[in-house]
Formats: sequence, structure tokens, C-alpha cells
Amino acid sequence: MTIDKSSASLMDKTYKNQRHFYDLTRKHYLFGRDHLIRNLSAPRGGTVLELGCGTGRNLIEAAKAYPSCKFFGVDISSQMLRTAEANIHKADLSHRIHLAQGDATRVDPFEKFGIETFDRVFFSYCVSMISPWEDALKNATKLLAKGGQLSLVDFGQQERLPGFFKLLLEKWLSRFHVTPRPNLQQVMSDLAQANSAKLRFLPLYRGYACYAELDSSFYTRFMEKPAHHDLLETQNESHREIRKAG
Ligand SMILES: C[S@@+](CC[C@H](N)C(=O)[O-])C[C@H]1O[C@@H](n2cnc3c(N)ncnc32)[C@H](O)[C@@H]1O
Repeated sequence: MTIDKSSASLMDKTYKNQRHFYDLTRKHYLFGRDHLIRNLSAPRGGTVLELGCGTGRNLIEAAKAYPSCKFFGVDISSQMLRTAEANIHKADLSHRIHLAQGDATRVDPFEKFGIETFDRVFFSYCVSMISPWEDALKNATKLLAKGGQLSLVDFGQQERLPGFFKLLLEKWLSRFHVTPRPNLQQVMSDLAQANSAKLRFLPLYRGYACYAELDSSFYTRFMEKPAHHDLLETQNESHREIRKAG
């Protein structure tokens, strides 16, 4: 499957030099990545895919946290993948973490890794950079194994921070082609409904970041019973959770 050449060259241009100091600088403001890794709860011997894996930082931390699992990373930027490859080699994890260049909006992991679906799929500070990001989320739900979980962390809406902070942050982020998505919660809710899955959507750090988790195991559990009423409950629950978090 092809990648969008203009997105790939924009990301290569953005990260060509930054990739050398990316991990050192981003740890000071890409908050919530370890929260996501802790909440992956990957099953023993499971498979985990990161879309937009960048320098491989999350894959390495997750591989240490879940030593029985296999990890896969896709990124559109060949520059970022060069750094990821070197970092993974340095961490002595090349046998457990596999990388490929691809576009999250349309990647076919079977073509890249020989695997069709994954127990866990996640995005970290990537949905705010992907265009069109809704397609990437939709594609990711198709890559979930039965009972799998899709999670993401990204910039939030800064709802409990001073207004000037939001303005300054968004101005600064736009220099790096980053756009926090104001309707992310709604899009995730629609996806949860479409997949009869349960959604948790949480603002983190006063809204600086947000964390979302779409759990399709909920659906699997309920499907074992006579279904109709339970499915409606599942969908209502996902709306209730969203109202609570908001
Ligand atoms: C801010 S970095 C985040 C990297 C990593 N996930 C992290 O948390 O450190 C965003 C990454 O998304 C990648 N990216 C942007 N658009 C993409 C797309 N359409 N498909 C795959 N990766 C993409 C960029 O190349 C970059 O490596």
C-alpha cells in the first residue's frame, strides 16, 4: 500500500534534525505517554502496534514493561525510523520490536509484518499531526484483534488551564505542524458506537493532555449473551462515561 508522499516529506523535513534531540526535549512536554503504557495491560504473549512510533521511545518502554509481548511500529518518516532503529538496537530489543514505513491512515500491517490484527494498537502524540486523522483512527479500529484495545494520548483542550496558555501553546505547536483536535472525544465516541465498544476518555493534567481507550473486549463479553439489550447498554455507557469525563 502506498504512502502519501507529501506527508512523508513534510515529516522528514520536520524531524530531519530534531530527531537527534527529540527524546531529550519531548520528555519535558509530551506528558501521559507512560500513563498510556501502564494502561496497555497487554495480554501475555500478545501483539502491540504503535502507529506514528517516532524514535521508538514508547515501543522500547512498552517492551520492557511487557516482556512476553511482540511489538510493531509504523511511521511515515524514514528519518524518524532511522533513529528508532538505532535506539531499538541500542536497547538490545531488535528481536522483539519490528519497524516499517507506512501511513497510519491506510497502512496494511499484513503487507509489512505478516500480521493482520493486534491485541493493542496505540497512538501517542500523533493524531494531532496526521492528516486526515479521522481516517487513521478508523483504520486503527480495523486492526484490532477480537477483544483488542485501541488507546491514544495527545494534546488536550487545556480546559482547566489559563486561556492565554492555550493560545500560546497552540501557536507554538503549529510551528511543528501539530494541531490539537477539538472534536477528538466526539470522533472516538462515534467510533466506539460503530464498533459497539466501550470508551474511556480522560483529560489529564488539567486538560493539557487527553487519554482515550476504546475497549472492544466489552463487546466480546456482551456478545456471548442474547445481544440486543446489552449492546444498547454498552453504547449508552460509552456516552455516560464521556459526559462524566467532560
Ligand atoms: C510527535 S511525534 C510522536 C512520536 C511518538 N509516538 C512519541 O510519542 O514520541 C509524531 C510522529 O507521527 C509521525 N506521523 C505523522 N503523520 C503520520 C502518518 N500519516 N502515518 C504514520 N506516522 C505519521 C511523524 O513522522 C512522527 O514520528
